[in-house]
Amino acid sequence: MRILCVFLGVLVVRAWALVLPTITMPPCDSPEAEMAAGVFQDYINAQRTSGFKYALNQIDEIKIIGTPNMEIYKMEIELLETKCHVLDPAPVTACPVRTKAEIAVEADCDVALTKTGGVLTVIEHRCKSEPETSTEDICVGCPHLLPLNDTNALQMTTASLAVFNSRTANVSLSKYAILEVGRLTTQVVSGAPKLFSEYVIVETNCTTTEDDNCVPLNQSMATYGFCTSGNVIANVSVDCRIFAPQQPVVEPAQNGTIPLLMIDMTGQLSAESVESLDPVKQASIISIVKRQAPAAGTVAPGGQSNTMPVPVCPGKVKFF
Ligand SMILES: *[C@@H]1O[C@H](CO)[C@@H](O)[C@H](O)[C@H]1NC(C)=O
Ligand SMILES: *[C@@H]1O[C@H](CO)[C@@H](O)[C@H](O)[C@H]1NC(C)=O
Ligand SMILES: *[C@@H]1O[C@H](CO)[C@@H](O)[C@H](O)[C@H]1NC(C)=O
Ligand SMILES: *[C@@H]1O[C@H](CO)[C@@H](O)[C@H](O)[C@H]1NC(C)=O
Ligand SMILES: *[C@@H]1O[C@H](CO)[C@@H](O)[C@H](O)[C@H]1NC(C)=O
Ligand SMILES: *[C@@H]1O[C@H](CO)[C@@H](O)[C@H](O)[C@H]1NC(C)=O
Repeated sequence: MRILCVFLGVLVVRAWALVLPTITMPPCDSPEAEMAAGVFQDYINAQRTSGFKYALNQIDEIKIIGTPNMEIYKMEIELLETKCHVLDPAPVTACPVRTKAEIAVEADCDVALTKTGGVLTVIEHRCKSEPETSTEDICVGCPHLLPLNDTNALQMTTASLAVFNSRTANVSLSKYAILEVGRLTTQVVSGAPKLFSEYVIVETNCTTTEDDNCVPLNQSMATYGFCTSGNVIANVSVDCRIFAPQQPVVEPAQNGTIPLLMIDMTGQLSAESVESLDPVKQASIISIVKRQAPAAGTVAPGGQSNTMPVPVCPGKVKFF
């Protein structure tokens, strides 16, 4: 720890000795803000191996710190959960976000990127996600999230996969196994409680007619699928969509001590990233505090008292 402090101290001194950083605050809807937010959106979707993809909803804040070697973008970005699992190859633009009635999940992220040679790289992020709405406020019959270990919903999930695996054809079809349960909900439909499940499946080395110690195929060989299922009493329905073999997982672009130093010098981001876009945590949050829209983020150009301030941040809301 002491060594690290000394090391950082030396770098701080050297950084200050060079040039003081310049700080600019472009509008949150400016092309450079949109581009950086897009890079982060792609990063957060490529970097995770479980959970759902997130789509950019609003840029709340942006600050660009110019240094001789690079620009550092510090941003506050709000994302919404989509209905596409991260393993789904569909581009996030093709993925619908969950509506409030479907229990939207919002993620608020503090993000730092560097831009060198025109290339934006995410170096830090800290996200906090939670279901945005309590659906009781919206409708009486709306679904509710269940914990991902809910016994009845998991039984229904297993039963629905058995239905899918019992499909027959005159070709040899692969048997699938559950890889991840992404979302469990319950909803009262015409007086009866109904369970719903969204889950990811992976191809095994068995065919649908075999039942002999089936194990998932290698990541490079397996196809994956995303299933939605639901029940009414004992009648389970299931719908699965199979994906092409997976792309290799993109490693996080955590890198370099210099960018971290610069951020520590000017802001609050700490050295460790906290990744909490974890569906288990979503399900356990019961009471939701809706974040107040920041009152700041307006700039009066020219400073004339009779000029209406032009709001530059936060940027426009893309969904809700
Ligand atoms: C589900 O998980 C929670 C928290 O980890 C635990 O308290 C609870 O007992 C679990 N329920 C079941 C049915 O396993
Ligand atoms: C086998 O599959 C082919 C093509 O899907 C179909 O035309 C044919 O009727 C099937 N035969 C049987 C016996 O199911
Ligand atoms: C699948 O792989 C497992 C482990 O290698 C093996 O025990 C099992 O027999 C295989 N199943 C089939 C149908 O090939
Ligand atoms: C799985 O992948 C490893 C390494 O990529 C390879 O050596 C092995 O043969 C593969 N196994 C199967 C069943 O394809
Ligand atoms: C189960 O659902 C299917 C499709 O909705 C329906 O055709 C069938 O009659 C149902 N069976 C029972 C026992 O409810
Ligand atoms: C990490 O830094 C090294 C040296 O600065 C660079 O060559 C490499 O491309 C960087 N990796 C990433 C993922 O940014």
